[in-house]
Amino acid sequence: MGAVRVKLSALALCLSLKGGDFWLPFLAILNESNQAWANATSALIIVCSETHMQRSDGQPARPSHSHSFDAGTAWGYLALQALKSGYYAHGMGGIDYEKAAEVVGAPEGFRVEAAVAVGRLADLSTLSEAQRQREVPNRRKPLGDVAYEGRFRAA
Ligand SMILES: Cc1cc2nc3c(=O)[nH]c(=O)nc-3n(C[C@H](O)[C@H](O)[C@H](O)COP(=O)(O)O)c2cc1C
Repeated sequence: MGAVRVKLSALALCLSLKGGDFWLPFLAILNESNQAWANATSALIIVCSETHMQRSDGQPARPSHSHSFDAGTAWGYLALQALKSGYYAHGMGGIDYEKAAEVVGAPEGFRVEAAVAVGRLADLSTLSEAQRQREVPNRRKPLGDVAYEGRFRAA
């Protein structure tokens, strides 16, 4: 099995399934600490956004203000769908973005946003001590630190 590219209007997802031709090149995109756990997952995805909006009237494509927002929304739904289907999806910013663009052959006008690993939940005993220590609920910022009435508050 190789890599699959799903291209929607403003998004391209390049997918590699474990054991396929693209698995090792995709894994090499991740930093070392991500490689350590992501090699045990089933699929790696490179999420790219399209930085320009294509036009149907033959005019040149226009810069898209919201391409990263659009791709982030798509990734959010991908994570929810994975959960609904019995899988877990884990987003990663710890990747080599230039290498990612090279490996997936991102054309001009596409920006690599992040990588995603998808797999089944593993037993904690399969993790190293360092990985196990990270498996605790994250602390969340209070809502008041990120949501404002009208204007940002001075820090
Ligand atoms: C911008 C960003 C980059 C991240 N990069 C990584 C990463 O490279 N490796 C990793 O294991 N987790 C990374 N994470 C954390 C996981 O994606 C995290 O599990 C996810 O944000 C779920 O958060 P929660 O544990 O608070 O629910 C990153 C999170 C964010 C927001």
